[in-house]
Amino acid sequence: ATSRVTVVGSFNVDHVWRCAELPVPGQTLSGEYSSGPGGKGFNQATAAARAGASTSFVCALGEDVGAQWARALAAADDIGLHDQCSTLPTGTAGIYVDHAGRNSIVIGPGANAALSQAFVEAQRAQIEASAVVLAQLESPIDAVAAALRLVRAAGGLTLLNPAPANVAVPPQLWEDVDVVTPNETEFCAHLARDCGEEVDPDTLATRDDAALHALCRRWRPPATVVVTLGAAGCFISHPAGNLRGDTAVHYRVPATAVAPVDTTGAGDAFNGALAASLACAPGRPFQAHVRFAGAYAGVSTERAGAAMSMPHRDEVERRFGPF
Ligand code: RIB
Ligand code: NA
Repeated sequence: ATSRVTVVGSFNVDHVWRCAELPVPGQTLSGEYSSGPGGKGFNQATAAARAGASTSFVCALGEDVGAQWARALAAADDIGLHDQCSTLPTGTAGIYVDHAGRNSIVIGPGANAALSQAFVEAQRAQIEASAVVLAQLESPIDAVAAALRLVRAAGGLTLLNPAPANVAVPPQLWEDVDVVTPNETEFCAHLARDCGEEVDPDTLATRDDAALHALCRRWRPPATVVVTLGAAGCFISHPAGNLRGDTAVHYRVPATAVAPVDTTGAGDAFNGALAASLACAPGRPFQAHVRFAGAYAGVSTERAGAAMSMPHRDEVERRFGPF
């Protein structure tokens, strides 16, 4: 069971419109429409599975075609689905993507909001057998906290992707987080909320490393913080006592050169690949896992869609590897 990843999170049916520019208030635009599977949880589970980990996904679904779709897609990627059944509709997201691959997203949580602590606790055997549990903030915090607590108590590793940025994390949840992976927007939002420190996300990538490290330590002293910075790669900050096999307490990993068409789910690609790599090769230095996750996320941006844009590990290795 050492290569097992359990993802706890959301499944959404994504409705996507590709337009030249993102609409502004009062504007009507025309764009090319498509739909596909998404939700941060499902995107991350798909990435973990395609990156090579034996993967399970704990979520809540409605009683509708979206749920049937989720079941069929999970089976196709060999993802063990543990779905709580809700009378609410399966989650949805409306996504606009512009010519540069940037997006704006509105989610309709639906059934995702019904995922309960009791249901997660009923998946105890699965969670305790996992090497890594990965969660986000699109599901109720009690349910997320229960999963992190269970795997931690069983000696597993926990990754929290604190997305979306507008959801606050209650202080006690942090006690069970080993690695936290905000993007620049999320990092600044949480830092402002938790520490009262206002930092402009657009200035983050150009700050010097010592300053970034100090911000990370101030925010989450006991956890490894990985700030993803889009085209600027990512910044890693470890707590002094736990470098996770690295030699440097903080460092940057540059992004791989890619030609993005759709960055929807790029953060999810990074998180799923990072979890899979940590679960499959726990003895390697943390930096090796981050390099793989960065390249993996880069390749995912070269295709349209969220979950369906996740590459398989061998595609990423052929192009940028071996890792
Ligand atoms: O992170 C991207 C995802 O956010 C989309 O798939 C959408 O469903 C929202 O959850
Ligand atoms: Na993509």
